[in-house]
Amino acid sequence: MHVEIMKPFLWVVPILLLVSILHYSCFVDGAPQVPCYFIFGDSLSDSGNNNGLLTLAKANYKPYGIDFPRGPTGRFSNGRNLVDVIAELLGFSHYIPPFAAAIGWKILHGVNYASGAAGIRDESGRNQGMRVTFNKQLVNHQNIVRQIVSLQGNNNSAAIQYLGKCIYTVTIGSNDYINNYFMPRLYSTSRQFTSEQYAGVLIQQYSGQIKTLYNSGARKIALFGLGTIGSIPFEVAMCNRSTNNVSLCSDNMNSAVQVFNARLQSLVDDLNSNLTDAKFTYIDFYGIGLSSAAASLGSVIFDAPCCEVVRETGLCVPFNTPCQNRTQYSFWDAIHPSESSNVVLGGRAYNATLPTDAVPFDINQLAQA
Ligand SMILES: *[C@@H]1O[C@H](CO)[C@@H](O)[C@H](O)[C@H]1NC(C)=O
Ligand SMILES: *[C@@H]1O[C@H](CO)[C@@H](O)[C@H](O)[C@H]1NC(C)=O
Ligand SMILES: *[C@@H]1O[C@H](CO)[C@@H](O)[C@H](O)[C@H]1NC(C)=O
Ligand SMILES: *[C@@H]1O[C@H](CO)[C@@H](O)[C@H](O)[C@H]1NC(C)=O
Ligand SMILES: *[C@@H]1O[C@H](CO)[C@@H](O)[C@H](O)[C@H]1NC(C)=O
Ligand SMILES: *[C@@H]1O[C@H](CO)[C@@H](O)[C@H](O)[C@H]1NC(C)=O
Repeated sequence: MHVEIMKPFLWVVPILLLVSILHYSCFVDGAPQVPCYFIFGDSLSDSGNNNGLLTLAKANYKPYGIDFPRGPTGRFSNGRNLVDVIAELLGFSHYIPPFAAAIGWKILHGVNYASGAAGIRDESGRNQGMRVTFNKQLVNHQNIVRQIVSLQGNNNSAAIQYLGKCIYTVTIGSNDYINNYFMPRLYSTSRQFTSEQYAGVLIQQYSGQIKTLYNSGARKIALFGLGTIGSIPFEVAMCNRSTNNVSLCSDNMNSAVQVFNARLQSLVDDLNSNLTDAKFTYIDFYGIGLSSAAASLGSVIFDAPCCEVVRETGLCVPFNTPCQNRTQYSFWDAIHPSESSNVVLGGRAYNATLPTDAVPFDINQLAQA
């Protein structure tokens, strides 16, 4: 794997692009492009589902949310997270509520089931404590779907028609590496499987999970690939502690993730050819991070978190005063992108800049289809 050149970069923000995209941030009046948006995944998408859980994977304390109007909410960001940006671009006048707080008719506009530390595999993230695994998120969705059928006057065909118009996004898989495969002292997967075998096992399970989502009526589904996990400050520091060649360790992680991403792209192709009444797309999170870096003006800090972090978790130290110039940091804590990076990532997932950003559709095209 020739990953050498990709080493240090991740979610770097081209400042000019950022300024232009920030114009979107005033919410649009009028109807959104689609009636509903359902969100599955991990801490990249979580907007508060872990707040009531006994877990280390929590972000409902300062300095999280320092740039968010409502302050700390459980979002793993200084401001908006990835799916907030996508909801805005889709034209929603509000953010999609977390499942933990979603009640009444509001569920018709969508629900966010995502949970920090969650993985494709149930055991992933167990080192952090409680979390809502992807399997459990799908069960929660089936519960919401039953409520939607009832809100539609128990008219099944009306409910099915409605659910087919919604956008569904999934950000899952990072914890199957960060909080599983790359924690060999706590998990046995790296001894059981080569990275090729592991990607295969994950994709096979993911494939079944996405078919479950399809069977619950989803027809417009965007699956996010994984980012350059080996280059996040948390893993670089871990490599620095546990090996004498940081770049080798970090490159190995990025290679493993690229194997997963390649398999995920094939899965999306397969799903599109097998389930022809639905549209699936792959979002190139890895490549968007790298090309943003290439386009950056060189004044961005991409290898250090903005807040001081807890070594064991990579999350911000509670009540720590973070850096001032937050828009110049691509990372917020040692794992998660800053709001500025989320604006770029969400912006390019919605409206692809390069043809490889979103294959075969960007989210805007999914919404219009
Ligand atoms: C159920 O919904 C479908 C599609 O919206 C509609 O055509 C049909 O008339 C509805 N049936 C009843 C009994 O309301
Ligand atoms: C590795 O650790 C040493 C000692 O703690 C530190 O000085 C150095 O900056 C670290 N390097 C990286 C790449 O994190
Ligand atoms: C560290 O690993 C890289 C490959 O990622 C290799 O090019 C380099 O030579 C290694 N350095 C040492 C000191 O072994
Ligand atoms: C798609 O269909 C082919 C042929 O029936 C099958 O081999 C493959 O496993 C299916 N893939 C998915 C993701 O359903
Ligand atoms: C951001 O501020 C820190 C100190 O607060 C400074 O060290 C750093 O150089 C600044 N970053 C940029 C990109 O100007
Ligand atoms: C998508 O981005 C291009 C520039 O990359 C811009 O010209 C266009 O207006 C954008 N479209 C939407 C729907 O945001």
